[in-house]
Amino acid sequence: MRAPLIAGNWKMNGSLELVATFAEELSRTALPGGVEVALMVPFPYLEVARSRLPETVGVGAQTLSDQPSGAFTGEVSGGMLADLGVQMVLVGHSERRTLYREDDAAVLARVRAALGVGLVPVLCLGETLEERDAERTEAVVLGQLEAVLDALTADERQRLVLAYEPVWAIGTGRTATPDQAQQVHAAIRARLASYDAQLAETTKVLYGGSMKPSNAVELLAQPDIDGGLIGGASLQVDDFLAICHSA
Ligand code: G3P
Repeated sequence: MRAPLIAGNWKMNGSLELVATFAEELSRTALPGGVEVALMVPFPYLEVARSRLPETVGVGAQTLSDQPSGAFTGEVSGGMLADLGVQMVLVGHSERRTLYREDDAAVLARVRAALGVGLVPVLCLGETLEERDAERTEAVVLGQLEAVLDALTADERQRLVLAYEPVWAIGTGRTATPDQAQQVHAAIRARLASYDAQLAETTKVLYGGSMKPSNAVELLAQPDIDGGLIGGASLQVDDFLAICHSA
């Protein structure tokens, strides 16, 4: 079975003080057995997070350059992230796709850059409200998935984590119902099975989009939801821990 993963995505939030608060709380509080926990913090906090958080908590980045090095002012390479002990990296978050115009080709290039240095890409997929209202949810989400998986080898596909994040649920407090989320997760799982039965069985598919302590139990109880990608609630250590204990 797939061990659940609860990953916090701080986005462009946080501080050294918040890292210290999480380090203190996560060090003294027993994390639930069998649940993987990670924090995706902004670049400036990666090294201190890695050094201060307990080893049981993974540290991830929120994006990376598709280039290994060079004249790309302001960019951060996968090799630099790996140097810091970062284990995973978000790729294709809807905010990268919309605000920074990362199309499917750019997302694939970043997945490849992460795989190339041994990082686990967490590939984010999701539809807008307009796309959902037009009954295009599965077409959009599976299209985003195929744009990456079709270009990877079987071994590379096995190394991805997926995250379904309906864009209309991100930061809005409007969460997908467990049924809505499960329906899309099941469609993703079925598409994975069309590549390889084992891929469908082993690939974690997280849900993200206003997951809170109040709705986490129901969402995480769904058969094809393997964890959560948590935004706002991951900035409050008590809420984040409550979600971890809901898995
Ligand atoms: O990557 C997770 C994020 O997009 C979800 O944000 O605030 O709706 O939990 P939030």
